[in-house]
Amino acid sequence: MFISKVSQLGWIVKELRRGQYTSVTRTAYLQGPCSRHMQPLKYCSSTTAADHTHEEKNEHKEKISVTFVDKDGEEKHIKVPIGMSMLEAAHENDIELEGACEGSLACSTCHVIVMDVEYYNKLEDPMDEENDMLDLAFGLTETSRLGCQVIAKPELDGIRLALPAATRNFAVDGYVPKPH
Ligand code: FES
Repeated sequence: MFISKVSQLGWIVKELRRGQYTSVTRTAYLQGPCSRHMQPLKYCSSTTAADHTHEEKNEHKEKISVTFVDKDGEEKHIKVPIGMSMLEAAHENDIELEGACEGSLACSTCHVIVMDVEYYNKLEDPMDEENDMLDLAFGLTETSRLGCQVIAKPELDGIRLALPAATRNFAVDGYVPKPH
């Protein structure tokens, strides 16, 4: 913030030297800086003020709110970028969702339960491979999905996902650990 103000002041001094400080310059200064290009918003060469506002809004919208609810009912609210899977999002936020096969549809350890049918209905239909893996999941419900196949999109803003009390890990190498 301080740096951007200094940068703006420098720009105004330059305008004064050139004898071009006008009320337009002043208005531009008062509008505040373009945070991306470090100059008065009005004079930013790449986009208009409206574009900047739009960009800022988009940046805001590029993430959705997701709540994970663990087996003890404890909730964790996170922001997930559009396009990221719930498995990746869980890992980035230290949420205990295993994901033994790292999203290759060869396990069911990323099983999550979509808590609201309304959101479940907004998801793409599961592929056969996902259904096959879900059949192996502990505590399968009508709204179960594999976390690695649930991809953040704007319509899912506010989704709540419950983590099942246990998972069954049929790892790709055949190792079958005890449920945890
Ligand atoms: Fe294995 Fe999702 S991580 S199926």
